[in-house]
Parts: sequence; structure tokens; C-alpha cells
Amino acid sequence: MRSSRSVALSGVVLVTLSLLSCSHEAVVSDIYYGVSNYSFPEDFIFGVSTAAFQIEGAWNEGGKGESIWDTYVHEHPEYTPDKSNGDIAADSYHKFKEDVQLIKALGVKYYRLSISWPRLLPNGTSNNISTDGARYYRNLFEELLKANITPIVTLFHWDMPTPFMDLGGWNNPVIVDYFVDYARVAFNLYGDIIKTWTTINEPHQHCYQGYGADYFAPAIKSHGVGEYLCAHYLILSHAKAYHLYEKEFKPHQKGKVGITLDAFMGIPKDPRNFQDVLAVRSYLQIHFDLYAHPIFSAEGDYPTFVRQRINNMSLAQGFARSRLPYFTAEEVKIIRGSSDFFGLNHYTTYLMSPSEMEFSWSIPSMDHDAQVRMEQDPHWEKPGTDWLSVYPEGFRKLLNYVSDNYGREIPIIVTENGVGDKGQLKDYDRISYFNKYLYQLLLAIHEDNCNIIGYFAWTLMDDFEWSDGYFRSCLSTSVSLEQTSFAIAREIQKNSNSYLVLLH
Ligand code: FCB
Repeated sequence: MRSSRSVALSGVVLVTLSLLSCSHEAVVSDIYYGVSNYSFPEDFIFGVSTAAFQIEGAWNEGGKGESIWDTYVHEHPEYTPDKSNGDIAADSYHKFKEDVQLIKALGVKYYRLSISWPRLLPNGTSNNISTDGARYYRNLFEELLKANITPIVTLFHWDMPTPFMDLGGWNNPVIVDYFVDYARVAFNLYGDIIKTWTTINEPHQHCYQGYGADYFAPAIKSHGVGEYLCAHYLILSHAKAYHLYEKEFKPHQKGKVGITLDAFMGIPKDPRNFQDVLAVRSYLQIHFDLYAHPIFSAEGDYPTFVRQRINNMSLAQGFARSRLPYFTAEEVKIIRGSSDFFGLNHYTTYLMSPSEMEFSWSIPSMDHDAQVRMEQDPHWEKPGTDWLSVYPEGFRKLLNYVSDNYGREIPIIVTENGVGDKGQLKDYDRISYFNKYLYQLLLAIHEDNCNIIGYFAWTLMDDFEWSDGYFRSCLSTSVSLEQTSFAIAREIQKNSNSYLVLLH
């Protein structure tokens, strides 16, 4: 799943968002979608998201060390369809002031971005802090604040320093302490002005695609073992960084720390078929609750269903022990409740039904453990990306799933949502997507009482979309990337005038 990703999700539709954030009276509507009288709460957070590797470029400047993505795409230029890499990307390292102006022009007041671990700590370890790297983020954060934009900072958006990968990355338990060291440096350097942190972006995509499979760097391809080890030490790293902040920084810095999880929503292929209903449960528990339950549930630890399923499968497959490691009682305790908010990334929904084996699965693997066949309804719109069909109702269902399972006290921040395109300049598909998904979010707030406090659109500008490179942006070189992206933004502002009228 998501093996062929093409998401050139530029921030242009933030025209819609900016309108909403400027006027809380604004309502979301769509010609195809009817009109809603619901509005966003007064203090609702609207923002845009990016990630360091996808936009910064300057891969070897200012003493920056290599990340696994630098190393991987340099060693395997054929990995992306356009043979591209992140060497220049959107050149945000040099053009961050322009980024800030763009965000300002969009009218949103929040910007979610990530720090590149090897830019700050070239070898990954805290004994060597890059002066240039440290200065870059300081300047960027200050520039944002000057423009009245609040930065929300992610510590890890997939770009692990390569020297740690050589030691096994997240599969090596020692990584936990090194991640905490890195978090300490970041809290020390920026905690005076950064008040909202997320530790890790989408552990599921990172571990499933990069450790279980080879769709993403580091491309370990250790199906059924690697992704669980990765999940395990990554969850622990998150929790320890959370407690470091609680103990040493929160008392005087008074900020918040959370984690961002991702989920595709599932709906039963045939809603009348109970087996399909069970397939959805199995998928969500294995791919989502595996991460959410230890952190956000009242009892903590991996969900019982997941524990039993993987233990049984491992046993039947002749393993000497479960492929899913165990937390100690002490670890369960420190992980439980280790997030001040629920960061949630969501893009699409799949129809689900049971399956014992599919052609693309390995044994063992997370897919085989879940035993769920996934497909999308051919009638659902697919504006650009193979894996991303538009099914807005799935978003509301997911928000309810989170609220029902993890309570309504924990605030949800949608830290990413968006859609890819085919590189066209007219942005109606994206406008329609945001409009429909935001409408579902309003329903979740007003009709379902979900505690959603923020929404970040992916993404501010065209970027390096991992295994898709810049392909779908129809841009020939990364140098022209930013300009073209801005051009689209201007074009859309013109085009969307008529659309904006619909919002009132
Ligand atoms: C998410 C990633 C983000 C971007 C979007 C399209 O899974 O967090 O970096 O690639 O998908």
C-alpha cells in the first residue's frame, strides 16, 4: 500500500483556509456538497505543514551531516521516478524568509515544520552541535514569530542521521537514549520560543514502509519483524523525550509535547458482512492502535487483539518468541499518557474485507498479520495519487474512532490532510478536497462532539514527496520547483475567487 506515492500537495488551497481563519463566521460549503451552517470555534488553529527533508535542500551545507534519505537517494538514484533527490528541494534553507512571507500571505497563523536531526547534530550525537544548523532554526523560528506565525516543531520527520542507521536505526535499543539527547538539545536551544513540539511524525508509515518494506528509506525490508522492532523503540523514544520535557523543561518553558500518528480509515467492503466489519477492526488495531493504544489508552500497552494475533502467528510460523516485543511494566507506565494532544495525519480511506493471503504480501509481514484486503471504490475521485481516493466521510469516521477509543478529553490536532494532483495549474480538485474534508471535520466537532482543536494542510509548497520525487509536480528540475509552486499559488488565488463566493 502506498508504494507509489505521488503527492504534490501545494499550499494553494490555503486560500480557503486563510479565509476561514480570518473570519470565524465563515462556513464550509461546496457546490457538490451543500451548505453548512457550522463554523469553526473562535480559537481553532489553522496552519500548514512541511518537513525538513522535503523542502530544505542544502543537504551538505553549514556542516550538516547526512540523513538516511540523503544517503539512500544518492546511492539509488533510480529510486524516484524522476531520479531526483532532496539536495535542493524547495531550497528553504536559503529561502526561508520567502516561506514565511508565503505563509503570511495565506493568512494562517501556525506553521508545522520539522528540524533535520543531522542538520543540528551532524553525527546524530549531542557532543557535536552544528553552529550553522542551530542558527538556521533560530532565525527561522524568530522570523515566523515576527510575522505573528506560531511554529509547531517536529523533532523527527523520517530523516535519521545516517551513522545511526549504520547501527540499525530504530531497531537498535540504544537509539532511545540518543533520541532523548537530541530532544534535550532542541528543547534547550529553542524551548524559550517553541511551545508546541511533536516528537515523531507518522511512526507507522516510517516503520511499515522503511523497516518492514523497502518503499521508503532505510528500505530494510524486514517484513513482520523490522516494523515491530522499529515501532517498539520509537514509541519508547517518544515517551522518554516526553518525560524529559515534563521533568526538565515544562516547569519553566510551559510548552506541550505530543506525537503525530497516521491512519487510513477503513470501511467494510460490504457493510452487511460481519467479516468485513471485523477486517476493518483488525486493520485499525494492527496499523493504528499498535501505536495509539500504548500512548493514549487508559490501560496502556499494545492492544490485546494485536498482542494475541502476533503471538499466535509467530508461534504458528515457528518463531521462538513473538515478533512483537514486550514492554516492561515500568515502560507501559511511562508510555501511557505521554502526549499532551493527539496529532493525527489522514489522507484517504479503503474498503476492507478479510483475506488470508494476497499476492503482494510476504510471510511474515504486518499485512499478513492483519489479514485484510484493501481496495478503493473506482467511483471515488482520484485527483492525482494512486493511493489517494477522495472519501471525505472516512475522515469523520476516523475522528470518531479516535474520540471513541481514546476519549474526548485529549485534544486532536489534525497535523496533516491534503491531496496530490497531476501538476495542473487549475486547482479545483484540491479546493474541492479541502472543502469536503473540512466539512466532515465540522460535523465531527458539532454533531459528534469530537475535541478537535486544529487543522494543518499538507503542504505549504511543492516538495520532495519521498518515493515520488517531484514527479507529479511536472517540474523538470528542483531549482524551478519553488518558483513554479509560487506561480501556482498566484494562479489559484485568481481562480478561486468565484469559489470563495460559495463559502458565504
Ligand atoms: C505523509 C507524510 C508527509 C507527506 C504526506 C503526503 O505521510 O507525513 O511527509 O509525504 O504524507
